[in-house]
Amino acid sequence: MGNYANTKVYGTMLKEDKLFNKSEIINILKDSSKNDWLFKYADKVRADNVGDAVHLRGLVEFSNICKNSCKYCGLRLENHNIERYRILIEEILSIVENAVNMGYKTIVLQSGEDSYFSKDKMIEIIEGIKKFDVALTLSIGERSYEDYKAFKQAGADRYLIRIETTDRELYKQMHPNMNFENRIRCLKDLKELGYEVGTGCLVGLPNQTIESLADDILFFKEIEADMVGIGPFIPHPQTPLKYASSGSFELALKVMALTRILLPDINIPATTAMETLNPNGRIKALQSGANVVMPNVTSTKYRAKYEIYPNKICLNDKPEKCRGCIGAKIESIGRKIATNYGFSHNKG
Ligand code: SAM
Ligand code: SF4
Ligand code: FES
Repeated sequence: MGNYANTKVYGTMLKEDKLFNKSEIINILKDSSKNDWLFKYADKVRADNVGDAVHLRGLVEFSNICKNSCKYCGLRLENHNIERYRILIEEILSIVENAVNMGYKTIVLQSGEDSYFSKDKMIEIIEGIKKFDVALTLSIGERSYEDYKAFKQAGADRYLIRIETTDRELYKQMHPNMNFENRIRCLKDLKELGYEVGTGCLVGLPNQTIESLADDILFFKEIEADMVGIGPFIPHPQTPLKYASSGSFELALKVMALTRILLPDINIPATTAMETLNPNGRIKALQSGANVVMPNVTSTKYRAKYEIYPNKICLNDKPEKCRGCIGAKIESIGRKIATNYGFSHNKG
């Protein structure tokens, strides 16, 4: 694997033979004059380490019911302005079958923290999905070690749980009924159980500092994440952060590019939130370090109800349309769609 900070391109900001340290990361995040260089550099690191293929992961948003109160999220318990739904096993399996027929090799099951989906119910769903011969990612929040173990034994391969921010004070402000130590415990348990672990952060939360974003990037490296998803914060009108400003697309892209440079062989999605802020956001992300896209495969009738933030893309589109749309965009930039399962290169 190349040592990508061994370059003179960034002048005196980079020390030779060494990856970026915290103060270098901060300098890069604060200096917008070298953005084009940064994005091209991250793109090269991506090409050299994980290649040109883009992995598609079909996202199933199967419940918008959540017991938590994350201040930024439209699915938070206190939002009584959304119609709640839960998709049960038969329908989940038919959504998955449709996605598999479109060629998806990975399914991502995502939901709020919905206690209805007990350990046993999840095992049934996981076993049902694994019969389709796909890789399976779960993104259902904080659970016990026993639950994570049972899901792994049932066949789940990967787990996504963003740390959201490594600034403990900010974490506390944003998550009134949650606790940073438990989030870390989840990440550790998942690693220990042999999952491919995905984490990530929000960029642009109120009171978030550039210094803490640098810490977030170093945290991804420290825990040896297999996947890192970075998205700009987008204020939702039915949350306490309704008057906050939106995160910056450019800053989110920079955090993502730096993550690619520091963790050259991981999987990095071009996130939907990036496309929400910029009409070509996912393609820009794919050209600045990302190698994964997670198109929505949920039936159209549920999409508007999974409103974590406003103006989400593809709300009225069918899964088939999204598959065709993203496929054409990826090919238009000379990249191809991967035909394998897209397991992490970050092993060993
Ligand atoms: N409940 C699970 C959890 O929190 O890990 C999974 C679903 S949750 C909706 C997935 C991600 O949505 C969170 O990790 C968070 O970063 C993101 N999210 C929530 N509200 C957002 C907002 N207003 N703007 C951007 N991203 C948001
Ligand atoms: Fe629930 Fe996840 Fe939204 Fe927090 S981010 S309120 S845990 S769905
Ligand atoms: Fe859904 Fe483009 S990805 S319409």
